Amino acid sequence: EKGGFDHFMLKEIYEQPRSIKDCMRGRIYPEEGKVQLGGIKEFAEKLKNIDRIIIVACGTSWHAGLVGEYLIEEYARIPVEVEYASEFRYRNPIITEKDVVIAISQSGETADTMAAIEMAKERGATIFGICNVAGASIPRLTHAGVYTHAGPEIGVASTKAFTAQVTVLTLMAFYMAQQKGTITTSKLIELLTELDHIPEKIQVALESNDLIKEVAEKIKDSTNCLFLGRGSGFPVALEGALKLKEISYIHAEGYPAAEMKHGPIALIDEEMPVVFIATQNSSYEKVISNIQEVKARKGKVIAIVTQGDTEVKKMADYCIEIPDANEAFLPLIATIPLQLLSYHIAVMRGCNVDQPRNLAKSVTVE
Ligand code: F6R
Repeated sequence: EKGGFDHFMLKEIYEQPRSIKDCMRGRIYPEEGKVQLGGIKEFAEKLKNIDRIIIVACGTSWHAGLVGEYLIEEYARIPVEVEYASEFRYRNPIITEKDVVIAISQSGETADTMAAIEMAKERGATIFGICNVAGASIPRLTHAGVYTHAGPEIGVASTKAFTAQVTVLTLMAFYMAQQKGTITTSKLIELLTELDHIPEKIQVALESNDLIKEVAEKIKDSTNCLFLGRGSGFPVALEGALKLKEISYIHAEGYPAAEMKHGPIALIDEEMPVVFIATQNSSYEKVISNIQEVKARKGKVIAIVTQGDTEVKKMADYCIEIPDANEAFLPLIATIPLQLLSYHIAVMRGCNVDQPRNLAKSVTVE
């Protein structure tokens, strides 16, 4: 049942080239520059005139929501707010009939996310769901939705469901952009053609497994770890930190790299590994100066870099390469080495990777 892998988590990490392909199947038409999302088709007209999108979710799904915020604002030019379902439901949020709420949930059963949906629905919003488990409670509560089709996720720590959520959000961002006319067909052709090949790039990212294992060996005895990124690398950093803390029980924090000097920098010494998302994109130069700041304080730097990088390699203690990609698709690829890093560290520390202590696969009580 684990398909020759030692744990479900590892199997599910390796399934990602396939699960992302399954998620995109029948939804993208690269030659025509077209995205089709049958699940939300009846709202195609409405999407032309919405004021705002509110994304509600918990945990890893909330991190996917943050990636969605970057993509929707960038391409569809619709303001997006990303909320923890548990906070949103107990505030008195301002919601109108012109709002679209997107609820993201792997299990489709998370209590706080369900309550947030119910509240937004009562106040007249249109609710879309992004779920993995077909026929679960959340897909039944929403007006429309798009399934992630990642297949059953057994490992408690979410891996392939996260990248499938990000894939759906990418498709939604392009779909909304297409409806609103904020993107040209030629741009969509270019983006969808690249997206179509992302599964192969994820395959390449998986090939760094042996190197990642070596890095894991070097930092496995740490008591703390920082994850830093900018732009859409920031939610990737948050997700990397959550994965590490939940399965290895090492205290980890994700931060926007620039926030480091507003507090976390005080923690840095030779005992502190700092994982940077340092790929070549619009924030590359800024991230490099953040790496310098960590090195100046003797922190141990592990960097996720673009293949062929030379700048970061001069400074970092360990570099893990990933294939180059448009910034829009970076989270899909950069997440892979972080999943593997957490996995190996947890195995080396003798942790129960598939069923970490105190955690459950679906959180049906608030
Ligand atoms: C972390 C993890 C949790 C879930 C969260 C929401 O690896 O799995 O943080 O993401 O409990 O669950 P869903 O997506 O089922 O609503």
